[in-house]
Amino acid sequence: MPDLARSRPLKALRSASLKGIAAVPGDKSISHRALILGALALGETRITGLLEAEDVLNTAEAVRSFGARVIRVGDRGAWHVHGTGVGGWGEPEDVLDFGNSGTGSRLVMGAMATTPVTAVFTGDASLRKRPMSRVLAPLKLFGAEYETRGGGLMPVMLKGAARPICVDTTVTVASAQVKSAMLLAALNAPGRSRISQTTLTRDHTERMLAAFGVEVSVEPLPEGGEAVSLTGEAELKGARVEVPRDPSSAAFAIVAGLIVPGSEITLPGILLNPRRTGLIETLLEMGAQIEVANPRESGGEKVGDLVVRGSALKGVEVPEARAASMIDEYPILAVASAFAEGPTVMRGLEELRVKESDRLAAIVVGLRAGGIAVQELEDGMMVEGRGADGVPGGGHVAARMDHRIAMSFLVMGLGSREAMSVDDASVIATSFPEFEHLMRHLGARFEGVG
Ligand code: S3P
Repeated sequence: MPDLARSRPLKALRSASLKGIAAVPGDKSISHRALILGALALGETRITGLLEAEDVLNTAEAVRSFGARVIRVGDRGAWHVHGTGVGGWGEPEDVLDFGNSGTGSRLVMGAMATTPVTAVFTGDASLRKRPMSRVLAPLKLFGAEYETRGGGLMPVMLKGAARPICVDTTVTVASAQVKSAMLLAALNAPGRSRISQTTLTRDHTERMLAAFGVEVSVEPLPEGGEAVSLTGEAELKGARVEVPRDPSSAAFAIVAGLIVPGSEITLPGILLNPRRTGLIETLLEMGAQIEVANPRESGGEKVGDLVVRGSALKGVEVPEARAASMIDEYPILAVASAFAEGPTVMRGLEELRVKESDRLAAIVVGLRAGGIAVQELEDGMMVEGRGADGVPGGGHVAARMDHRIAMSFLVMGLGSREAMSVDDASVIATSFPEFEHLMRHLGARFEGVG
């Protein structure tokens, strides 16, 4: 249930062509990791472009509670972190509240699991429903102990190992959060740990560890996937981290630009790590006009500027193997597919059931509210696209404490015949506080409700 005193209903209306530059905020995944690695490093870490949204600010607060000095040194996401060194985290005085953030909480669990401190983790009503055993059970292999509410739910009490042990294991869940938590735990476990994963998930932790001076080796596995290894009792040296702009936030402006006829939007400096570009690949297959200009490297990551133009889209079958590289983008892809000619089929999406909401269910209900026929499958959905000008709209959607559900159905309203509204746009602040302002600047029409 949304907190009614705080909820902010918002309506999005059919808009004239969207034009201009959309400078979306810093990448959420990289922002969490920059703060956590900074807090584990010796010396100073200087971050620019940090995402200053609720999720990441909660991670900043958490690493402060373990003893890191974290200072905001200017606007535009300039932050400095003075870490304690691996194994140097102290015990927090109070419960750690991660708000809505699965990534922040699970990564910090990993980072403390091999240090002899105890901490209690909690979050908002959405996070308290999400499974934590997927990360806690593997952390037990390193010697950590824990208690949870109701079989793996927060609040969680985690007791870091006094005598951590290195681990060679396979992560079967397709989650970068679980892999990353284990890599962070491995940092303080003497000996060599090897974390294998059958699915290729985002690799920002591995890349950033290397930038902080840790020797990380990555080998492909014959059966698919890869193994990441590192030697514990590692020393991280403070580094400079330039956070590229978040492709998962850019996704909302990209799809808005595609479905509103005559639009032309430029998105500078977007992270184009190949493990994050599944949405762009899929949209290109659907006939989207998206150009990548000025491709370059920044801080060990691929980055480029995107130019997006209003496009006639056609339905496609999205390869299941692409799911991990666009896992956060299915809600907005589902909206794009409503504006395409013909059906779009998406499968292999079991993980969507355990995100900030049950996203499969939320997408299906939202699309139907906007007059789109959709078949819910156990592991995916089939959306019957109505073509560029054929989406009825006119629905009201519950955001379910899920920022990406709220933004997706607002974007739908910008291109549909009748407006779409969401019951609570305040949840957008978890990842993209400037969403409404940035979209209005491009020409999007929003109206408060009630
Ligand atoms: C993230 C990984 C993904 C993604 C989340 C951010 C990360 O979760 O949904 O928004 O930063 O590692 P899973 O790895 O659990 O799929």
